Amino acid sequence: MRMDIDINNIIIKKMKKITNICCIGAGYVGGPTMAVIAQKCPEIEVNVVDINQQRINEWNNIDLDNLPIYEPGLKEVIAESRNRNLFFSTNVAKGIGEAEMIFISVNTPTKTYGKGKGMAADLKYIELCARQIAMVAKTDKIVVEKSTLPVRTAETIREILKNTGNGVNFQILSNPEFLAEGTAIADLYNADRVLIGGEQTSEGKIAMDALTEIYAHWLPRERILQTNVWSSELSKLTANAFLAQRISSINSLSALCEKTEANIEEVARAIGSDSRIGSKFLKSSVGFGGSCFQKDILNLVYICRNLGLNEVADYWEQVIIMNNYQKKRFADKIIATLFNTVSGKKIAFLGWAFKKDTNDTRETAAMYVADYLMDDLANIMVYDPKVKPEQMFADLNYLNTRNPEQNKAQLNTSTDPYDTSKDAHAIVILTEWDEFINYDWHKIFDSMMKPAFIFDGRNIMDREKLELIGFKYFGIGK
Ligand code: NAD
Ligand code: UGA
Repeated sequence: MRMDIDINNIIIKKMKKITNICCIGAGYVGGPTMAVIAQKCPEIEVNVVDINQQRINEWNNIDLDNLPIYEPGLKEVIAESRNRNLFFSTNVAKGIGEAEMIFISVNTPTKTYGKGKGMAADLKYIELCARQIAMVAKTDKIVVEKSTLPVRTAETIREILKNTGNGVNFQILSNPEFLAEGTAIADLYNADRVLIGGEQTSEGKIAMDALTEIYAHWLPRERILQTNVWSSELSKLTANAFLAQRISSINSLSALCEKTEANIEEVARAIGSDSRIGSKFLKSSVGFGGSCFQKDILNLVYICRNLGLNEVADYWEQVIIMNNYQKKRFADKIIATLFNTVSGKKIAFLGWAFKKDTNDTRETAAMYVADYLMDDLANIMVYDPKVKPEQMFADLNYLNTRNPEQNKAQLNTSTDPYDTSKDAHAIVILTEWDEFINYDWHKIFDSMMKPAFIFDGRNIMDREKLELIGFKYFGIGK
């Protein structure tokens, strides 16, 4: 009992009030997350630093419609706090030096080389951050893993920081981010939970409480969960694996629906009404994309295999196999329906982003479907309200199926959906942008080659209405 009081007194005495934060990595997570922290905690100076000069310039852009990422509500948050207590800079060393708390929010892509190629997370950017913190830090720091990391990465970071020789104390926390793109600001404002993993020592507790105080500026305390570091790291991979698993599960059944005249939307509604199952993440689609689901599951699979858990690895790998199958199945259906070839035919793509309300295209299903159709010599024209043409070509070149000149010869882009659809043999909906629903579909039909096909990879269109106009409509799982 006495012991408890003593520890509590120490904690109260040492309660750390953070006044300066640095976030390394000004990407889809670092930018919005820090913007919201700065908005909600005006007494804290927040410096977001990145080695990418162009990205930082874009974050500092006076024209708020040209920030480096598009997120509904983001520009308003930036407008409120930028240059008040939120700063974007390439001066990484200065940011680290002045901060009491450093978030690491750099990319952790799948390794493209060497050991673990195509499976493991590439932690080189994380290691570089840790080394730079070790080199620069002259005062005690709380280092927060915001990036998604393999379980036990904190150990590696600690190992690097421990050997700085500067006599500085570091506390390492895991604080994974659960926001989804397109709803990032709403997700941050109203997070279901914030997870903070830390060392189970009094110093670890002080660090966890310091971070808890930041989130408590706008979130109820009961939603801020404290765990040990390893549980926190693993929970992030697990959450993404479970979410992606639901999409692959419903997509697998969409194939069965197409063979049996069951309707996947009706099946999803029926099972989603069971409160034990729940209705979210049961939307059948052309396949999930985005920078994280695939990367994080591959990473989970890699970790399991390395630990000799082959059955566990096989189980999760199937989520990816099913997703790849869905993208290919959709492209095959287009080719088969268009009389077994799309060679020389104009195919209009509506949407390229991996989901609506974002300009992010990483792992978007659109690029894989385009690639399959281009293999069959299709001429594709793409319209997306937020994705720039150079990004679409970069995506295709990344797939490396054909050279950049060939990609340019077979894929065109347009800023007008009507121009995109003109003379097309088929329209393919790849992203669920709301604006698609309200187009003048009579006008589109009139301008197309006949029969006019529409392949709705997102099940957003009104089938009956389109069929009345004269379209031949194909959805997913219908
Ligand atoms: P991103 O690629 O958009 O941004 C990462 C940024 O880090 C880049 O701008 C890059 O230049 C910068 N960077 C890399 N190394 C650096 C270094 N040594 N010093 C300074 N800057 C450096 O990535 P993201 O989408 O923001 O994802 C970041 C992490 O968050 C990943 O681990 C990801 O898995 C995780 N995550 C992402 C999302 C999402 O919606 N995108 C959601 C939750 C978690
Ligand atoms: C996902 C998670 O939802 C976030 O919690 C997590 O923080 C993030 O990954 C991450 O770690 O990066 P995000 O990828 O941004 O967020 O977007 P989601 O809404 O999850 O959509 C992912 C993909 O699944 C999209 O292509 C989307 O169209 C697809 N999807 C989603 C479906 O096909 N059906 C659904 O029912 C839901």
